[in-house]
Amino acid sequence: MNSAEIRQKFLDFFQARGHEICPSSPLVPAGDPTLLFTNAGMVQFKGVFLGSEALLFKRAVTAQKCIRAGGKHNDLEEVGRTARHHTFFEMLGNFSFGDYFKPEAVAYAWEFLTEALGLNPDRLFVTVHHTDNEAARLWTDVAGVAPERIHCLGDKDNFWQMADTGPCGPCSEIHYDLRPAKERGIAPGTREFEQRGEAGEFLELWNLVFMQFDRDPSGALHILPAPSIDTGAGLERIATVLQGVSTNYETDLFLPLLARVAGITGRPYRADTGEGVSYRVLADHARAVAFLLADGVFPANEGRGYVLRRILRRGVRHGWLLGQREPALVQVVESVVDGMADAYPELEVQRESILAATRREEERFLATIDGGVERLRRVAPRLRSEGSHRPVVPGAEVFRLYDTYGFPADLTRIMADERGYDVDIEGFEKALAVQRERSRADRRSKDGGPDVALTLTDTGSLPFTVVDDLETGQTFVGYDSLTASTRVLAFRDLGGGLVKLILEAHPFYAEGGGQVSDRGSVWTPEWSMEVEGVTRSGELLGVHGRPTGDFPGASVKGSEVTARVAADVRHDTERNHTATHLLHEALRSVLGSHVRQRGSLVAPDRLRFDFAHTAPLADAELEAVEARVNESIRACHPVRIRVQPYEVAVKAGAMALFGEKYDSEVRVVEIPGVSTELCGGTHVRYTGEVGVFKVTSETGVAAGVRRLEAVTGRAAYLYLNSYKDRIQALAAFMKTAPANLEKRVRQLMAENAELEEWVEGLRHQGSGGEVVAEDGFTVDGRPAIYRGVRLKVRSPGDARGWGDAFRESSKIGVAVVGAEMPGEKYALLVFATDRAIAAGVKADVLIKEVAAVVGGRGGGRPHMAQAGVAEPERINDAIRAGADFMKRLISESSQRTSAQ
Ligand code: SER
Repeated sequence: MNSAEIRQKFLDFFQARGHEICPSSPLVPAGDPTLLFTNAGMVQFKGVFLGSEALLFKRAVTAQKCIRAGGKHNDLEEVGRTARHHTFFEMLGNFSFGDYFKPEAVAYAWEFLTEALGLNPDRLFVTVHHTDNEAARLWTDVAGVAPERIHCLGDKDNFWQMADTGPCGPCSEIHYDLRPAKERGIAPGTREFEQRGEAGEFLELWNLVFMQFDRDPSGALHILPAPSIDTGAGLERIATVLQGVSTNYETDLFLPLLARVAGITGRPYRADTGEGVSYRVLADHARAVAFLLADGVFPANEGRGYVLRRILRRGVRHGWLLGQREPALVQVVESVVDGMADAYPELEVQRESILAATRREEERFLATIDGGVERLRRVAPRLRSEGSHRPVVPGAEVFRLYDTYGFPADLTRIMADERGYDVDIEGFEKALAVQRERSRADRRSKDGGPDVALTLTDTGSLPFTVVDDLETGQTFVGYDSLTASTRVLAFRDLGGGLVKLILEAHPFYAEGGGQVSDRGSVWTPEWSMEVEGVTRSGELLGVHGRPTGDFPGASVKGSEVTARVAADVRHDTERNHTATHLLHEALRSVLGSHVRQRGSLVAPDRLRFDFAHTAPLADAELEAVEARVNESIRACHPVRIRVQPYEVAVKAGAMALFGEKYDSEVRVVEIPGVSTELCGGTHVRYTGEVGVFKVTSETGVAAGVRRLEAVTGRAAYLYLNSYKDRIQALAAFMKTAPANLEKRVRQLMAENAELEEWVEGLRHQGSGGEVVAEDGFTVDGRPAIYRGVRLKVRSPGDARGWGDAFRESSKIGVAVVGAEMPGEKYALLVFATDRAIAAGVKADVLIKEVAAVVGGRGGGRPHMAQAGVAEPERINDAIRAGADFMKRLISESSQRTSAQ
């Protein structure tokens, strides 16, 4: 059975059992900051399990695309080296939202595997949570699994939760026995089962989660509104079993991809060789790349884009290891699109952009690798052999290649080896560890995201962070001055028109402590350059951009230039930085001193502040925090900055950030009586300059970490204005004044509620209304009828429509309609056919009689008349009385005729 058939069979099986087939949700979970990627079928149903969302059905089935890479537990480096680690995979799942529970889940899974797929029950084992006796009993009673094939395990294996918080519950797994036939006779004990499972002799096929709880950020479990079912079976694994192969890579999902790689290299795939790993990496990563790009993730240096970039670059690296110097991964990605577009049409729709983005990133990274090769060529002559040993590339150099050129150590080793050198891997790892520690500290102080577990150090940073051979010193003047007349100390051509300059007096702030880099320009009378970025390499700060005018190239070194920071942008940023300190203090004062900064972004247009706190902020807390910050602003405190020894500062109460490394001399930013922090950033001189502070959002980013976003100054003014604009637009739309908006909305809501009730009534009304009285008789041998009905209508006009239809009849006919309209309004209407009029029953005469019954008065014309109703409870009496009036009028008329 091929994988497309398995996928379809699964969907069909559960559809036939009342499950709604739902499409796979995108890989980027909608509005869920706790999750980097969709990693299970239940993700799209999270809100349904929690009871915060409702669906029209209670059972669902999906084939869900999933990514598990880049989170805490997924080591990308494993992929390709094992039989079944993947970045991208497909999960088949059936779901019950408070409908069926354990017995049905067990029965369905067993029936699907053993009957629909025809797996041999003697090769299946199950695990249950050690507290879940019910599940164990069901496997025996419902599925007939022998007790020695059921193993009870702990939380690690048999308690499933989607993340640190959210829906979770005990689970039960079905495993497939992969041992050779002769070993399968005896069922292993639990310990042995676990060990053999780790060795790959038992393969987990399907996980049935009995969703019962919602875990909150403090770790406490809350019972879900209704026990539910969430299951997940790996398509790749089921295919492995059904296709009788031993690794996922030998299934029809991967074979065409491996064949494509073989086509590129000209060498067949051989599983057990080092090259086999690279083949598998390309096959696996191409799937993730294709699907991530299709779902709108782009290579970037942070967040989801960073995970994609790592996967992509790892793919390129393995292509390079296979001897490819031109884009190869993109070709495998193309095979993924070809092979899977039937099941996932988004691949076809995005084909061109997927391939273009892959190729672009691949070309860039290959160029980076080339830069590293060139660098190695340059350092090589300096290497000397010692005695009989081969020359060694020092660890620091391997690290520089890695850090500056994104050149992985394994590539350096291969290249060095080709040239007859060894590499000092130990030295490299030491340098790497030092840098990891530093960047971990950085990250703690910087803006975290859902991807806090990622490290940014192994991306291969852009190739301009290192400046060689610089003897002259540089001064940062940006704390005191926004302009500098200074000299160019060094120049570097970064290619593509981009250059980097090192200035002697450098006024541009370089990103640090959450505050973003300055913008601005550098110029001489001959040329000018907008600063696109500020970089830090060791002690030195550089600016880069694209000079226009008569730029002299390398001979710019030594020339006199003017450098100017964009003052308004800097000042906006400073407002946000000072506000961040005020916010930190206000949070500690309102929520308590457990509040600790966990990350911060200070940009010109907004600030973002992450801090340790378990619960969402209540409205009142948020208001108190906001009010306190604004009070500090209005108090117009001075902001004092000094540099002093670390110990002195901390002793004086300065707040040092946990995990940050500080020099012995530190910069202290003090707002007297409010806050004292160690901080390298730039600030306003008086808090009053911040203007106004407004929180724009409050969210959770990880367990126990909240995030506030806020605006100040100009941005706050615009933000508040945008609300005013929106209210004005709304008022105009509702045709009222802003001050009356609330009244108008309430009125509309009341009207709407009434209408809804009304529509409900209409739904119950038959097509002709409710008949209250009906009579048929003959007048001089001609048929006559009387009909009295109750009718729900929007307006008397609707009732007249009904009456017109009635009057089409050629009989002597009279109808009395008790019309009921929205808002408890009533009317009586009388309709008379032409023949009725001829027979003496005029509507405008009859109406007077029936109207009298309901205390109303009316009038009209002979064929149609209408009356108001004072006593609605008597409408039916009036309708019933109409028949007698009709007969009386006819007989009076015929007496008159015969009297003449
Ligand atoms: N959510 C569970 C898992 O991922 C079952 O689908 O294993």
